[in-house]
Amino acid sequence: MAKNNLSEMRKLAPDHKNAFPDHPCLEYDCYYDYLDTLSDYHFDRWRDDSDSPDVDLSLKFRGKAIDNIMDEVLPFEREQSKNVYQNDIKAAAVAAWYLQNEIGSMAHVGYKQRVDPEKHPTLQKIVDWFEYAENVQPIIMEKNIGNWEGWHVDSHCGHPNGYRQKELHRVIIHLQDWQFGQMLFWGTKPIMQWRAGDCLSYDVRVPHVTANCSRYKRYSLRITGVPSKNTLTKVQQGGIINVDEL
Ligand SMILES: [Fe+2]
Repeated sequence: MAKNNLSEMRKLAPDHKNAFPDHPCLEYDCYYDYLDTLSDYHFDRWRDDSDSPDVDLSLKFRGKAIDNIMDEVLPFEREQSKNVYQNDIKAAAVAAWYLQNEIGSMAHVGYKQRVDPEKHPTLQKIVDWFEYAENVQPIIMEKNIGNWEGWHVDSHCGHPNGYRQKELHRVIIHLQDWQFGQMLFWGTKPIMQWRAGDCLSYDVRVPHVTANCSRYKRYSLRITGVPSKNTLTKVQQGGIINVDEL
């Protein structure tokens, strides 16, 4: 039975402690240091990733539908983007590190809304164009002014049990032109001056960081899924895709 009263919680604490799962991330000061171990990225700060095939900017979506894409996106309806469970080891590890480092809030990453084919027909066309084989998760991301995501390897890079899900693939498609103060770094590669419809596709093992220090909210479409052969071929070919003809 749930205990809402704090004194009741204190009585329960020892049992909760014993029930807390053991996990390899507890060996690290920061949960994200643990996630790094699931990636075979080089982690050399002085190496130049600008020509890395693992960070590909060669694919671009264009057309009238892209010029007007924000008409489809707005009004953006924020959905609950974080679920935290009792005995959630990741939440506990991240919260401990935040508190140690005097980071006041965990609500700085932004907001999500799942693509709805009725409301977002153009976005759905783009999602379908990629031909992901299964588990496709198309999400519109809203990054408010002041939002940031710390340096991390995506958690789907490796399973918490240690086995790697390399088959997952992820792309991010910008839905607006770049603004001064918006920044992305993928590995040691800075990314800026993008146009609406520009696609960033990357190997999930590459760590990255984002910050929106501009004067505007930033919207992008993130697609994660198990790629088909066609997905990988299309991404590798790059080029300009006219969305009006899809
Ligand atoms: Fe990420």
